[in-house]
Amino acid sequence: MTPPQPDVLLETDLATADDTRRAGRVLGGQLRAGDVLVLVGELGAGKTTFTQGLADGLGVRGPITSPTFVISRVHPSEVGGPALVHVDAYRLGDAAELEDIDLDLTLDTSVTVVEWGAGMAEQLSDSYLVVDLVRGAGLEAAADGGVRDSDDDGGDEHDDPRAIRIVGVGPRWTGAERLQL
Ligand SMILES: Nc1ncnc2c1ncn2[C@@H]1O[C@H](COP(=O)(O)OP(=O)(O)OP(=O)(O)O)[C@@H](O)[C@H]1O
Ligand SMILES: [Mg+2]
Repeated sequence: MTPPQPDVLLETDLATADDTRRAGRVLGGQLRAGDVLVLVGELGAGKTTFTQGLADGLGVRGPITSPTFVISRVHPSEVGGPALVHVDAYRLGDAAELEDIDLDLTLDTSVTVVEWGAGMAEQLSDSYLVVDLVRGAGLEAAADGGVRDSDDDGGDEHDDPRAIRIVGVGPRWTGAERLQL
């Protein structure tokens, strides 16, 4: 049997950090309580920037930051919608440690976003979105296996464009419409 095709909600290049925020904002406008997002991408790929856009689209109280010692933050809604629970799982060892922070207490009433959540956050719900951010390479280059070496191009790698791919898994996202940026 062939596995089910992933539901791709968005696949595009992001030229600037504002584009990353816009993608988050557009998705944020479509989300509802119970939704789970797993954010994938190397250090500095734009996961927090994307979450800032999400927060904007959801209408929750900011600011969204990358705190060094805080693993999870709750951002309440300012518009009567779901809160945003923003988790940075970078320092967590495994799925059991993610369980320790009791995300299931807020899961049903919030949108839960886990940076560095791959391999851990999928257990939270039978439906989730995987948001993949790739630095410094277009989507085709990424599909070829990787991140371009940006050591000698003289540029600041923080400013490299990014590419994003958002895939839905599970019944919540089956047949979901593509996002229009
Ligand atoms: N599309 C883009 N083009 C250029 N720069 C971008 C883009 N998106 C984000 N950035 C920049 O990349 C830098 C790192 O972004 P961010 O902190 O969101 O990454 P991160 O994936 O959350 O990092 P970490 O792995 O440390 O959590 C920021 O300076 C941000 O402005
Ligand atoms: Mg981050």
